[in-house]
Amino acid sequence: MSKLRVKTAVFPVAGMGTRFLPATKANPKEMLPIVDKPLIQYAVEEAVEAGIDKLVFVTSSAKRAIEDHFDKNYELESELAKRGKGELLQLVKQVLPKGVSAIYVRQPEALGLGHAVLCARPVVEDEPFAVILADDLIYNGEHGALKQMAEVFADRQCSLLGVEEVPPEDTSKYGIVKTEGGSGQLTSVVSIVEKPNPVDAPSNLGVVGRYILTPRIFELLAQVGIGSGGEIQLTDGIAHLLEDECVLAYRFEGTRYDCGSKLGYLQATVQYALRHPELAKGFQAYLDQIHR
Ligand code: UTP
Repeated sequence: MSKLRVKTAVFPVAGMGTRFLPATKANPKEMLPIVDKPLIQYAVEEAVEAGIDKLVFVTSSAKRAIEDHFDKNYELESELAKRGKGELLQLVKQVLPKGVSAIYVRQPEALGLGHAVLCARPVVEDEPFAVILADDLIYNGEHGALKQMAEVFADRQCSLLGVEEVPPEDTSKYGIVKTEGGSGQLTSVVSIVEKPNPVDAPSNLGVVGRYILTPRIFELLAQVGIGSGGEIQLTDGIAHLLEDECVLAYRFEGTRYDCGSKLGYLQATVQYALRHPELAKGFQAYLDQIHR
């Protein structure tokens, strides 16, 4: 049988973003910019780099800005063309690369990440797919985290969770996995638990916002009930998936910024500004000045 490749990515963007209120009252968290690009665009670029050509956004009523961002803006494009702003015109046109399609499905109520993923089922159908949480921004200049995972999937044909070691006192912010065997970078998941207290955590290996899942997860998510925090948890679906199929934990190469928190968002902003070709010098000089 020929090996499957991941061609579809699901972006759950229907959460309430309460940690960023009031900034997220009328604007989705995923549209917060890191320097000059919204978080969701970094996530889409990472998916496209990984060979994905179908983007499925799970949205809610307050998320129209995401659809508009990836849609064609005739007025802006013709105005930029008229003013001879060729470079900016290209920038705007490439927001959704050629050959890539964007599909929007609604999550009528914010019932949790597992429920958001389940809402994508009718458009993903019976194929392996990636899930990207745009507020986990992962920097790896040459080889994005999802590309690394897609390569592992192409070889192993197993569900994969992007993981990293988190501070032991922070286990209650993550899905935490217990693993065995493997190389260190790629290990088998034997159990997974959502946001355990540090004393109950089976390890400090936290799942961050990158997943590649087989479509079996949909059947399981349809069966799991309400879990931790009163939500339908993706973690609970994965816990059942483990009983049927292999699930691997992959320690990706790259630096992750938790842009769902204010501190992580600020750290990402500073680091991306220091890497930005137009800003790096001036911004570094400014930082040196305020540190004096
Ligand atoms: P988070 O819990 O980090 O996001 O969910 P949130 O609920 O938007 O933010 P806070 O905690 O209130 O500040 C992780 C991801 O799952 C999506 C979110 O949009 C985010 O990308 N999500 C969460 C949904 O799409 N639907 C949900 O019901 C819950």
